[in-house]
Amino acid sequence: MNRIAVSSEREYEVLVGANWLTETVNACSSRERVAVIISKEMRSHLPEFPSTEAELFIFEIPDGEAGKSSKTLNTLWNWLGAAGFTRSDLIVAIGGGATTDFAGFVAATWLRGIDWIAIPTTVAGMVDAAIGGKTAVNSEYGKNLIGAFHSPIQVVLDLQWLKSLSDRDFVAGMAEVVKTGLIADRKILDLLADKSVASLRDDDGLVRELITRTVAVKAEVVSNDFKEGFAREALNYGHTFGHAVEKELDFKLRHGECVAIGLSFVAYLQNILGTLSDSDLNLHLRTLEGLGLPTSYPLPPWEKLNALMLVDKKSRGKKLRLVTLDGIGKTKRLEDPDPQAMNQAYEKVAK
Ligand SMILES: NC(=O)c1ccc[n+]([C@@H]2O[C@H](COP(=O)([O-])OP(=O)(O)OC[C@H]3O[C@@H](n4cnc5c(N)ncnc54)[C@H](O)[C@@H]3O)[C@@H](O)[C@H]2O)c1
Repeated sequence: MNRIAVSSEREYEVLVGANWLTETVNACSSRERVAVIISKEMRSHLPEFPSTEAELFIFEIPDGEAGKSSKTLNTLWNWLGAAGFTRSDLIVAIGGGATTDFAGFVAATWLRGIDWIAIPTTVAGMVDAAIGGKTAVNSEYGKNLIGAFHSPIQVVLDLQWLKSLSDRDFVAGMAEVVKTGLIADRKILDLLADKSVASLRDDDGLVRELITRTVAVKAEVVSNDFKEGFAREALNYGHTFGHAVEKELDFKLRHGECVAIGLSFVAYLQNILGTLSDSDLNLHLRTLEGLGLPTSYPLPPWEKLNALMLVDKKSRGKKLRLVTLDGIGKTKRLEDPDPQAMNQAYEKVAK
């Protein structure tokens, strides 16, 4: 097992390659009540729990984004109230990023904050959502608009969960791994060279190394910059265009698929502006395409995406601000990029 330390509003560890059931049972030993929050679809993956010292409650929520709602939140608060949850009790979140975001927000708000453990079961959850302390529910006005910073006391990455994940969700999560290679760890890109999804999924050691490296980068970034200065903003490489695509396509594509299109867009843009070499542009495209991630897609008109990018929360004032590369492995900021170059980059990915 690898232990990766995170230092934010609290110190905690990400355990990579741990057994989630053993860790959960251990965590129960010092608590009176433990609430496991899991989606209805994931419930069948739960084995019978061994008897623990704590009184165990299993709370089922709707799967995916449907569970991240204020309606579900209200239900959960009522369940915790009825079960008599106190400050010293514990929440355990088991599921993809949607479930860990939701359960983390429940933990942040119940009695102004109780302890929680994240057990992410998707690649996206393991390398991104469960690390860094951002918790959220969706508002009728948009995704993740209601949230809090509330770090878990532990994150348990049991890679066995990934066995039942669909290829599509597995690969979507890998977009964040590729992004991390591009912004901070070239070795990740070397490890991914010529890898297909099938060959990757067959190689547990490689998956573990990729996840460990990606988590290490995110852990370091959030430890140095918990509440989003430029260091944390750098994690948004490819995301400004990606978020606009995700929203315009009404969440038809996975987040990671939109990030892949966003990474391609920003790579083309830098290449057009003369700040990214042809070989580094090709490295972006080859790595993403090798995994079966989209680098182009029939997209809505440029004007719509551009307008959405301008309201993305990473823009400042009316000026668009993008994260770009200063060579592979290092990031910088690009403010107010040339509109013509942006349009040209859009033409490359909108097909
Ligand atoms: N807090 C953050 O910093 C942060 C960062 C990135 C993403 N997010 C959030 O994460 C969410 C996306 O996460 P996601 O991609 O994990 O999606 P998800 O949580 O919606 O899960 C995707 C699907 O995979 C299924 N699934 C989960 N684990 C499985 C397993 N082991 N086997 C089979 N099926 C499984 C789920 O039931 C679901 O249907 C979004 O809500 C996003 O806003 C948060």
